[in-house]
Amino acid sequence: MKVTIYPDEALRRKAAVIDEINDEVCQNAEEMFDIMREAEGVGLAGPQVGWSRRLIVVGVEDELPDGERALINPVITDEYGTLLSEEGCLSFPGITGNVVRSEVVDVSAYNLNGEKVEIKATGLLARVFQHEIDHLNGVLFIDRMTPASRMSVTQKVKELERLYQKVRAS
Ligand code: CO
Repeated sequence: MKVTIYPDEALRRKAAVIDEINDEVCQNAEEMFDIMREAEGVGLAGPQVGWSRRLIVVGVEDELPDGERALINPVITDEYGTLLSEEGCLSFPGITGNVVRSEVVDVSAYNLNGEKVEIKATGLLARVFQHEIDHLNGVLFIDRMTPASRMSVTQKVKELERLYQKVRAS
């Protein structure tokens, strides 16, 4: 498993619902944790490791109970307020930009034990949830950047596209 880099098509696919928590799901979650920690990221979604399933791992550890750092089939059930802040993404090395997100989100999901969990998140955790759940729907943070940020990263995004074509052709 390794991190899928933009513009790999895997990032634009809508990920499938997980209907059984089996060994594959648990092992992939473990591997995703390892990848996220190594990259010093705060979140990672299935499509970002080429696994098109609705699972996210979250690395904002202080704000979550221990068993709820891997979330299966997460859904935002409510959201309030808006907040502008800078974001990055492991699938976009070297690129950051401002994104407006909801300030508070209620997330409903399942943990790896198959238990339903409801989480009210604020601050960075709320932002990570929105960013990672977007990944499950093929939505990327460049889609949501403010027009000024989107403009400022245009060249870097094009570089990633060129690099991807080059690697593909070789
Ligand atoms: Co991302």
